[in-house]
Amino acid sequence: MDLYLKGKTAIITGASQGIGRAIAKELALEGVKVLAVARNEDLLNSLKEEINTSGGVEPITLVQNILAAGAPQKIGAEGISLLGHVDILINNAGRSRPVDVVGSEKIWIESMTLDFDRPRQLTQWLLPHFIARKQGSILNLASTYELRAVNVSAVAKASIVVWSKQLSAQVGRHGITVNCLQPGLIDTENIRPFFAGDERRKFADREIPLGDFGEPQDMANMAVFLVSPRARYITGTVAVVDGGMRHHPF
Ligand SMILES: NC(=O)c1ccc[n+]([C@@H]2O[C@H](COP(=O)([O-])OP(=O)(O)OC[C@H]3O[C@@H](n4cnc5c(N)ncnc54)[C@H](OP(=O)(O)O)[C@@H]3O)[C@@H](O)[C@H]2O)c1
Repeated sequence: MDLYLKGKTAIITGASQGIGRAIAKELALEGVKVLAVARNEDLLNSLKEEINTSGGVEPITLVQNILAAGAPQKIGAEGISLLGHVDILINNAGRSRPVDVVGSEKIWIESMTLDFDRPRQLTQWLLPHFIARKQGSILNLASTYELRAVNVSAVAKASIVVWSKQLSAQVGRHGITVNCLQPGLIDTENIRPFFAGDERRKFADREIPLGDFGEPQDMANMAVFLVSPRARYITGTVAVVDGGMRHHPF
């Protein structure tokens, strides 16, 4: 199926590894010019090489700590300047942050900034651009918020979902869609430390109907559809890619 993505442009944060890297590569293979943002320059360079070898559109890379002051403005401005215009924004950078029942204020602020405020600020910076062009696809990475222990990132992601739904209702008339993509457990550096040894196998046998963790590519397959013109009538929704797992017992 042609997703009609050829010639489009996209900013994706957290593109150096994991889910973001898979989405960046898949978009490039679909003919999208990507601005790939992350801190790890070596990984961004290897992504560029991997895409070139696979025959995708060469991405532009931007080494940027999204937590730094002014980062959303810088990423948005670089996106417009280097890509010419921006059709697609994927707010993917994030990190699981389990904490004690109280947790340090520093961690709460940092995680809420990374997983909620920065995606919101980058989106808000780009909104006038999207509105002026009467188009824009925004995709925010979410997570389950039905954990049984405190995880700041999941609190931030719950906020992302509520805000995305509110925003989608207001910007739809400008031709802009806002959706969320919610992973179950996807095999990345972000979650590997929580499943040492044969914990992954035991957990998957018990909790995941499709039998194992997902791969970043499983997320990319859904992401490229959701930001494509094929999904033009989908907004304010949360697409779940979780192998049938509906809760996290940790
Ligand atoms: N994997 C899962 O099962 C799962 C479950 C629920 C939610 N999620 C969400 O899915 C998204 C992707 O997660 P993942 O599992 O693919 O994680 P990952 O493999 O750890 O990748 C995270 C990405 O975010 C970037 N990043 C982190 N902090 C950053 C910062 N301060 N500035 C710029 N970039 C930063 C990292 O790049 P650098 O290190 O190069 O900066 C990396 O590219 C996240 O929002 C995560 O919360 C994942």
